[in-house]
Amino acid sequence: MSTAGEAFRRHHRALTERLAQHAGVLAEGRDPDPAPLVTFLTAEILPHAAGEEQHLYPAVEPLLRAHGMATATMRIDHRFLEEYIRRIGEMAAALPGAPPDERARLRGRLARLVAQLEAIFEVHLAKEEQIYLPLFEQYVTEDEQARVLARMHAPPAARPPVAGETALDVRTVPPPRRHSLIFQTFESLAPGHAFTLVNDHDPKPLYYQFQAERPGQFTWDYLEQGPEVWRVRIGRPRGAPEGRAS
Ligand SMILES: [Fe+2]
Ligand SMILES: [Fe+2]
Repeated sequence: MSTAGEAFRRHHRALTERLAQHAGVLAEGRDPDPAPLVTFLTAEILPHAAGEEQHLYPAVEPLLRAHGMATATMRIDHRFLEEYIRRIGEMAAALPGAPPDERARLRGRLARLVAQLEAIFEVHLAKEEQIYLPLFEQYVTEDEQARVLARMHAPPAARPPVAGETALDVRTVPPPRRHSLIFQTFESLAPGHAFTLVNDHDPKPLYYQFQAERPGQFTWDYLEQGPEVWRVRIGRPRGAPEGRAS
C-alpha cells in the first residue's frame, strides 16, 4: 500500500468516524443543535468529494479502462445492500421476542438501518439509470436488450451455466477440504475467466472468506440458489492480480 493510498484511506476513516459521531449525538439527543454537523458536512465532506473529482478520478479513469472492471464499484454496492438486508432481517426477527424496554431501542436501530439502506439504494439506482442504462440503450441492439431483460426475470434456477466453463462440484468432497479446493481452482483461473461452484448449501461463508482474502479480485454471481443445489459463478476479473495476495 502506498503512502498516498494509505493517506486517502486514513482520511476516509476519519471522515466516517466523525460522521458517525455526529449521527450518534443527534440520534441520542445529546445535542439537539445540528449546526456542527452541517458545518462538518459542508467544510469537510463536500471539499473532499470535489478534490477527488478534480484530481483523483482523472488519474484513475484511464487505469480503470486498462486494468479495472467498470462494474466493480456497483458490485460493491450490491454487497453492501445484501449486508444491510441481512442485518435488517436479523433485527426484524429479534423484535417480536425482545422485552418491551428493549424493543424501542431495536426499533430505533432498525429505522436507522433502513434509512441507510434507502440512501445506498437511491444512489445505486441513480448510477444504473444515469450511466449504465443510457449506454445499454444506445449501444446494445434491441434484441439483445430484450434477451438481457428476459434473463433478469427468469428464475435463478433457469439461468444456464456459461458454456465452456468448468464446474467444480464439491458435494462429494469432505467439508474440511472444500474451501482449499475452491481457492486452488480460483488461483488457477486466468484473468477474465470463471468457474461454476456447485454445492449443497449456500456457500455464503466462502463468500466472506473471499471478501476478506481477495477483496476486489473476484466476482460472485449466483446461478442457482437452492433449495437443494447452489451454483455460483466465481470469476477473476480482468486486471485482477494473479496468485495469492500477500
Ligand atoms: Fe473519498
Ligand atoms: Fe443494482
